[in-house]
Amino acid sequence: MTKVKFIALKNYIKGGYPQEKDFETKEVDLDETLGNNQILVKLIYISVDPYVRGRMSEGKSYIDPFKIGEPIECGGVGKIEKSNCSKWKVGDYIANNQFPWKEKFVTDGNNPGCYKADKNAAPLPCYLSLLGMTGMTAYCGLTEIGEPKKGETLVVSAGSGAVGQIVGQVGKIIGCRVIGIAGSKEKCDFMTKELRFDVGINYKSPTYKDDIAKAVEKTGVDIYWENVGGEITDAVLPHLNKYARIPLCGVISSYNKTELDVGPRIQIYLLKSSAKMQGFIVFNYIDKFPAASKQLAEWYNQGKIKDQHSIKKGLDQVVPSFLSLFNSDHLGKMIIKIADE
Ligand SMILES: NC(=O)c1ccc[n+]([C@@H]2O[C@H](COP(=O)([O-])OP(=O)(O)OC[C@H]3O[C@@H](n4cnc5c(N)ncnc54)[C@H](OP(=O)(O)O)[C@@H]3O)[C@@H](O)[C@H]2O)c1
Repeated sequence: MTKVKFIALKNYIKGGYPQEKDFETKEVDLDETLGNNQILVKLIYISVDPYVRGRMSEGKSYIDPFKIGEPIECGGVGKIEKSNCSKWKVGDYIANNQFPWKEKFVTDGNNPGCYKADKNAAPLPCYLSLLGMTGMTAYCGLTEIGEPKKGETLVVSAGSGAVGQIVGQVGKIIGCRVIGIAGSKEKCDFMTKELRFDVGINYKSPTYKDDIAKAVEKTGVDIYWENVGGEITDAVLPHLNKYARIPLCGVISSYNKTELDVGPRIQIYLLKSSAKMQGFIVFNYIDKFPAASKQLAEWYNQGKIKDQHSIKKGLDQVVPSFLSLFNSDHLGKMIIKIADE
């Protein structure tokens, strides 16, 4: 038996921002005896993602809420410490989009959600970012729904974050003009200088609506990548070009609202521009992940795409890092390092 700590959901929340008091850290004895095909995994990196907020509330969604008292699950990379499964050997690195926020755990080595994290192909945090869930979201949503073409104008909200950084860079590789929207000057500098977006717009500036209008004055908007919803989207939709596409990836500005967000009605903009808006969940495209990973890894190794991570250290940083996603200064993908590689 070994003592291990994990982070559990303490109570469901009805609306409003999640808080530290909604979580609890527990310590339990871990029985390291392995059954058939089981593996013992030491968690090395864990992801915090906005979608965790959705699973903290009861109600109909595309995925069940977390169970009270049980570990929260999110993307993770771990190291195999013991294996009773022919697919895995001790020392291998393993990733999964549903690993527990738990220092060490026993799991099924044949779980189809597990995949190998090859340290020689890319740094381990990339398997939670570019080569993990957020990279797959960006690549599959953009290519399948956004259908970007050379010379088109792509506007990306939350452009400096985990999904946004990849969407904009893939757009640039394809030959789009890319305009990123984010919440600070530092994030705008990051988008234009590091990610090579054409324009960065700070939505916290009092002039942001005019800044958006000016940035697309000559080109209009062919693709609007929707990560945030709310007033930012209201400012973009009047500029849609004919046959514009809107991959509806997320609406983070609404996740903590206590009442449904009501804004300008969007139908008239879609109608006038014959635009298509399509919501999606990344796992709709699971069959496309191998090809997407291959392409993204190739671009990464050719130096065509960057994968920025903001890494905090320690299990005690997991909850604060998650909470900060709703008001954060992080660049790229937020990841927490739990143990040394
Ligand atoms: N459909 C899917 O399968 C799927 C998969 C992954 C992610 N998503 C969605 O994609 C979006 C981005 O997720 P991510 O993992 O890449 O997170 P992220 O962008 O790394 O972090 C979230 C960012 O959202 C911005 N934000 C927070 N509250 C906001 C508000 N009220 N108004 C405008 N911006 C706000 C913040 O940046 P600023 O400083 O710029 O405000 C924050 O840094 C989220 O909506 C998420 O739910 C969807």
